[in-house]
Amino acid sequence: MKVLVIGAGNMGLTYAEGMAQSSLLNRRNLMIFDKSAEVITTLSKIDHFDVFDNIEDCLPQADVVFIAVKPYHCDDLFKEIKGMVNDQQIFVSLMAGVTIGKIQEGLGVKKVVRSMPNLPAQVGKGVTSYTEAKEVSRVELLMVRNLLDTTGASIHVESENFIDASTGISGSGPAYVFYFMNSMLEAALKMGFSKNDSKVLVSQTFEGAVKLFNESDLSAKTWMERVASKGGTTRAALDSMEDNNVEELIKDAAYAAFNRAVELGKEEA
Ligand SMILES: NC(=O)c1ccc[n+]([C@@H]2O[C@H](COP(=O)([O-])OP(=O)(O)OC[C@H]3O[C@@H](n4cnc5c(N)ncnc54)[C@H](OP(=O)(O)O)[C@@H]3O)[C@@H](O)[C@H]2O)c1
Repeated sequence: MKVLVIGAGNMGLTYAEGMAQSSLLNRRNLMIFDKSAEVITTLSKIDHFDVFDNIEDCLPQADVVFIAVKPYHCDDLFKEIKGMVNDQQIFVSLMAGVTIGKIQEGLGVKKVVRSMPNLPAQVGKGVTSYTEAKEVSRVELLMVRNLLDTTGASIHVESENFIDASTGISGSGPAYVFYFMNSMLEAALKMGFSKNDSKVLVSQTFEGAVKLFNESDLSAKTWMERVASKGGTTRAALDSMEDNNVEELIKDAAYAAFNRAVELGKEEA
């Protein structure tokens, strides 16, 4: 199997590196293409994959093609490569808001997988949701899943609506976590901790809580109750959050991202 990644930006390079470090592909079977001469020069110094500055030299050989350009560049890309693709190739899109139908129509192909990655893929802790056109077989989908899993975990979803929904949870989600972290960091600084100590207190608290959650069957709500005792300090904090309706505000924020993803999809169509 030969894999080509089109677009060597943040996401394209992250996936290429993930696949390169896995045992799924050997170096000769991983290709990357970008239109920027500057990017090509930088990439040529990395020995993990074959780097191409001419699409005609790599696209025809590829069995699986990852599309990792910005959504607003997809029309130009489709025009550029339409005459070089074939209907046995599988196209895996990482582009937010670009529908399977649009990719099929733009390229004149059928086998398309649409995915939504997130930023922690850069450290092998990403989560990618994905769904496929009906022309993608189970075996092909499994192969794609294995490739996506090289950057962390993945979940299969039944429809593109869930791709937009996962944008509101995991795609944009790292920013919600950073928002919460930033608020706690500012509170720690205000209480008089140094910048460094604040960072240790906050990041270790997040990491520890996630580890506890992952290593047990307890719900997040049960863990909250375990930390909080009646009349105690944590209860005071949780009561303050409840009084200010923080839970509803966070849910609203996730829905705002979900709705925006749906809107962007319509604009792109
Ligand atoms: N970053 C994230 O956290 C994230 C999360 C979820 C989904 N995504 C999706 O991932 C995709 C890539 O995002 P990114 O942040 O990695 O973008 P990026 O850093 O801008 O990378 C895109 C790369 O593709 C190149 N390119 C543009 N048109 C091309 C073409 N026709 N042929 C070959 N290369 C081309 C760009 O070159 P120029 O710079 O010269 O245009 C750039 O090097 C987007 O569609 C985005 O929706 C990203």
